[in-house]
Amino acid sequence: MSKPLRGRRPERQLDRKLWSPLTVPYFMRQRMEGGTSVECGVNNLYGLVLLARDVLTPDSTVIEIGSFKGVSTSLWAKLCKKVYVVDMQCRPKLRKRCQQWDNVEVLKGNSHVLHEQFEDGSVDGVYIDANHHYEHVYPDIMDYWPKATRFVAGHDLLTGDIGWLTKHYDPKGWECCEGVARAVDDLIGLENVRCYPDSSWATLKVTE
Ligand SMILES: C[S@@+](CC[C@H](N)C(=O)[O-])C[C@H]1O[C@@H](n2cnc3c(N)ncnc32)[C@H](O)[C@@H]1O
Repeated sequence: MSKPLRGRRPERQLDRKLWSPLTVPYFMRQRMEGGTSVECGVNNLYGLVLLARDVLTPDSTVIEIGSFKGVSTSLWAKLCKKVYVVDMQCRPKLRKRCQQWDNVEVLKGNSHVLHEQFEDGSVDGVYIDANHHYEHVYPDIMDYWPKATRFVAGHDLLTGDIGWLTKHYDPKGWECCEGVARAVDDLIGLENVRCYPDSSWATLKVTE
């Protein structure tokens, strides 16, 4: 099994400085408009569209771990050839949304078990947005890393300015999500991920 790449060079140098100019004004705007501090939960899609633009091709196949009611799933469905949804629950709203697409397959169950259903190298990318505690994000990255040939990504990476502001204004949101940054840093290295205004993150895999 190929291992996550802490200490190895990504094939493209990713620019971490994107954090300050993009994410902080976005965060402030959300608060001023009465929204949640940072988006911890259902994706508002703005940052995800940017991420998708960076990593997808029209032929991409993607596993989304954690779909909730299928908002982010709909974006993958629109932009990818095939989407595998892994979620513990198949909520009515998720089912209804997925029925609108013939390229979405829902696998109901625990990500820590269902990873066995996927062959290594069988998809282009993985988007991890399930349980955000360290002890869940860590194995999700480890288990799904080998499945993807091109990118590994996820949601609710709160660090730097965003982490500080979230800790301050939204301790519950922080408590829920702080494991993402730690797991990503331990396994991939924060310097190797690109971050997006919705707190999504992505890294391109090294090709050997
Ligand atoms: C934050 S929501 C996903 C939101 C969705 N990506 C969106 O932006 O619209 C997290 C989802 O992960 C699922 N989940 C949590 N832990 C999981 C696990 N270990 N395996 C599979 N699904 C899990 C929950 O059922 C929930 O639907």
